[in-house]
Amino acid sequence: MKPREPIPKQTITLSVNEQQHTIAIEPRRILLDALRHDLGLTGTKKVCAMGDCGACTVHLDGEAVYSCLVLGVECDGRDVATIEGVADGNDLHPIQQAFIECDAYQCGYCTAGQIMSLKALLDHNDAPNESDIVRSVSGNLCRCGAYQNIVKAGVAAAEKMQEAQNGN
Ligand code: FES
Ligand code: FES
Repeated sequence: MKPREPIPKQTITLSVNEQQHTIAIEPRRILLDALRHDLGLTGTKKVCAMGDCGACTVHLDGEAVYSCLVLGVECDGRDVATIEGVADGNDLHPIQQAFIECDAYQCGYCTAGQIMSLKALLDHNDAPNESDIVRSVSGNLCRCGAYQNIVKAGVAAAEKMQEAQNGN
């Protein structure tokens, strides 16, 4: 049998967490693999790789997406944000802090995706109610069943962020 011809790579430039990267990838490479394998950003997790679980959630141009359903070449010239860019240096984002305070994870495998989904909501909505929060993480499965505390963390983070905005 003849060995398969290598697939020609395409060079793309994308911004990830506000840093520009130029990488050469096969057109079939999913954004998730480009982040994890080409850029070494392994905070975004791979579980189902078929759009079922939400573990791979990142932001693409400010919107939450499953990075296993986006091709890397589609991200040429676009802005990607991952869990690695959420904290400000050593200062955790209020959502991250709330996850710790509300005990919102067990194995932690879904956590990056949950946080990115909640952050997409809170980036666009200053005053979400509990049902907005539940809806924002409805595409993120947690096999450990930490759902109640994930929602508690979302509510706590939203309250903290509102207080900070009001100068309290
Ligand atoms: S790894 Fe992308 S949705 Fe499960
Ligand atoms: S904390 Fe284990 S899958 Fe959610």
